[in-house]
Amino acid sequence: MNSLVYIEKHKNRFIEELFGILRIPSISADSAHKNDMLKTAEWVKNSLLEAGVDVAEICETGGFPVVYGEKIIDKTLPTILVYGHYDVQPAVPLHLWNNLPFEPIIKDEKIYARGACDDKGQMLMHVKALEMMVETNTLPCNVKFMIEGEEEIGSDHLGAFIVANKEKLKADIILISDTSIIANDIPSIDSGLRGLSYVEVEVTGPERDLHSGVYGGAVANPINILCEMIASLHDENGKITIPHFYDDVEELSIEERALFATAPFDLEAYKKDLKINNVKGENGYSTTERASIRPTLDVNGIWGGYIGEGAKTVLPSKAHAKISMRLVPNQNSEKITTLFTNHFESIAPESVKVSVRPHHGGEAYVISIDHIGYLAAESAMETTFGKKPVPTRGGGSIPIVALFEKELGLKSVLMGFGLDSDAIHSPNEHYGVWNFLKGIETIPLFYQNFCEMTKHKTNE
Ligand code: BES
Ligand code: MN
Ligand code: MN
Repeated sequence: MNSLVYIEKHKNRFIEELFGILRIPSISADSAHKNDMLKTAEWVKNSLLEAGVDVAEICETGGFPVVYGEKIIDKTLPTILVYGHYDVQPAVPLHLWNNLPFEPIIKDEKIYARGACDDKGQMLMHVKALEMMVETNTLPCNVKFMIEGEEEIGSDHLGAFIVANKEKLKADIILISDTSIIANDIPSIDSGLRGLSYVEVEVTGPERDLHSGVYGGAVANPINILCEMIASLHDENGKITIPHFYDDVEELSIEERALFATAPFDLEAYKKDLKINNVKGENGYSTTERASIRPTLDVNGIWGGYIGEGAKTVLPSKAHAKISMRLVPNQNSEKITTLFTNHFESIAPESVKVSVRPHHGGEAYVISIDHIGYLAAESAMETTFGKKPVPTRGGGSIPIVALFEKELGLKSVLMGFGLDSDAIHSPNEHYGVWNFLKGIETIPLFYQNFCEMTKHKTNE
């Protein structure tokens, strides 16, 4: 039975199964959901067993467990390691959702739920693709699954896990579906991801909240100061002002910039989708470049003072902000965090105290578009989309990808099937039924291509 027939026959069950995992609110950031995290890990383990792996287990880490599974058919054949994550982002603000985030529904051929695209839907494509290969006797190689539960909070315990499990995780390539394509009729493959450095800052003024009439004008207001400090982090050209921030940035060659510029991009549609009148960013770079090959600094949240109903005249004691910096190849997240910290402390006026607390970080990643893993994905997508995918660079981060390379010496192939408009991390996250099924159809071709190409390579 060919795969299209198999998918057609089983697609309703595949979607039902996806609904099953989407109903468990596995929010890694929220400790109230610890049990749901464990329930989801169990769910993934059972789903792997049902798909036909030889063994599946729940592996403890210092945080939420990793689900591991494998099917070894012949030790002399290549091994593909599939990575994905079963944790999701918080669903708040709930009132902006049109359905309850953990009660999935289908509307206009799209599955709406938190995690539908990022990453439960995309992860499950791999499990269902394996089921199909096992059932139709077409699995051409060995496969291992490593599905983690802390991706959305920085994969803090995963580095130690892979170091401790090098033998178990031995493979020839890592395959990940946790990124997006340009459009359903414009397939693309991310040939890189950005790194990340995430910090939280606190500015303290007077030791207590003050009457803003009695003291205002004479005592530094930490919120005013924090705003000034943040505003000073970019100059009029959209460049980040932290000294040495750009020192290690890898500049792309003219050829590479030209290659990425071939990816279709419609600025008018982009603005319309986001309901903005204009874009904004670093001078000298296109919108696509600003969101992929260039480093950035963004405030993710800012708070302090009175934010309740009505007005309260208060000069607050403290102000806070969460700040993320997206990094590009060759920048180092720890170094950037140190540069940020030193700079932020140095620009604080004497009237306030400043503290910077690092959160998580991770390094950027690139894969050559000549790598056989990339080529295997390219050819698989070309077959199922009927069009050769264009190479892109992803603006988001999957910190473990750089660690896989460092610790296991393995390249990851980022064969994602989401769309930027799927609203991942936002209210009304969704995933197209078409994309879900297209992924299941494409994955087995990656397996075949990769095995073929590996054979040729070793025969050379
Ligand atoms: N799947 C995303 C990353 C992504 C999305 C890459 C779209 C490329 C295109 C992932 O789940 C994610 O959200 N990563 C976080 C990393 C962080 C929490 C350490 C990110 O990019 O903010
Ligand atoms: Mn993800
Ligand atoms: Mn995510």
